[in-house]
Amino acid sequence: MSNSVPKARRYLLGIETSCDDTGVAILDDEGKVLANELLSQIDAHQVFNGVVPEIASRKHFETIHTLLDRALESAGLSWGDLSAVACTIGPGLIGSLLVGVCTGKAVACALGIPFIPVNHLIGHIFSNALTHPELAPPFIVLLVSGGHTDLYAVVSYEDLRHLGGTLDDAAGEAFDKGARILGLPYPGGPSVSKAAETGDPHSVRFPLPLKKQGTMDFSFSGLKTALLYHMKKHPDSSVSDAAASYQEAITDILVEKTFLAGRQTGYRKLVFAGGVSANRALREKARSRAAKWGYTVFFPRVEDCMDNAAMIARAGWHALWSGAVHQPKATVDSSLTIEKTQAVTKGSGSSKA
Ligand code: KG4
Ligand code: ZN
Repeated sequence: MSNSVPKARRYLLGIETSCDDTGVAILDDEGKVLANELLSQIDAHQVFNGVVPEIASRKHFETIHTLLDRALESAGLSWGDLSAVACTIGPGLIGSLLVGVCTGKAVACALGIPFIPVNHLIGHIFSNALTHPELAPPFIVLLVSGGHTDLYAVVSYEDLRHLGGTLDDAAGEAFDKGARILGLPYPGGPSVSKAAETGDPHSVRFPLPLKKQGTMDFSFSGLKTALLYHMKKHPDSSVSDAAASYQEAITDILVEKTFLAGRQTGYRKLVFAGGVSANRALREKARSRAAKWGYTVFFPRVEDCMDNAAMIARAGWHALWSGAVHQPKATVDSSLTIEKTQAVTKGSGSSKA
């Protein structure tokens, strides 16, 4: 029998309220998820065909305390066991962010533990680390969510270099707007993807903006307009065929540009993150090209692609391991970018942003 005293575990609370999902998670100091509570507000927003900010913040406010209690209960912990709070401070809806940040700061203040601000987009990148703990930079990441479509070279987690991004709509936005045109329910990504399952992806030839040009930028607004014209011109055409062809065009462009980034940087690891990375066609296409061209691709688990607090807590652990300290003055920023976060981190001489 060993005489060594077992090391006391440390537990980190993660909070995510940037949009229409209220998330609370608890991770131990090995990054193991002990609780990951999520309450989706889809039902409340579906009737409006999109997220209504005022409703979103009210719903976060009504439910966050219940989720905190539930997370502690399912992790088998009490308040006093928590060592730090990691919380999304942006980008996102300002009212929604405020609910999470006020809650997170109140918990940190009451318990005398550090409050660690997390950029939601960096959280999405860390959703991969939940499933692939071995994943380490350098790698390429394609961040594809409702509001973002960006390619970064992740030299280290503190040094992300922007390679390209969308010039107009984000890929998730293209799915959401496409669904509206096709008369499919919000959120558009899952419903276009479902309709596409029974459709022919080669039935309609949509334009592939910027696909063959050497740039790592994207453009999706012309594609959405092409779908609109197609449905106006052929009102009785199959919705499944149009959905499958539209999805084919979006995923073709995403895969093409991500592999271009790999080729141009020489990085062989390609990582996908954000809501759109749940898309099955995207996963299949990326995996088959990776097998052919000798790359390794990483996707989060489908349930971790969407907004959740476990990814925020995982990013928070990384910040703490890198030397971050209590940041009580960190505040919400609805248009926070990765560049702004890096500037703050570098400006403080460490990750003590
Ligand atoms: O990352 P996320 O949950 O929230 C943001 O930070 O924006 O991403 C939401 C976006 C929505 O636009 C949604 O339509 C899209 O991700 N999405 C999908 C799929 N699931 C969610 N897009 C394509 N295929 C899916 N299966
Ligand atoms: Zn997100």
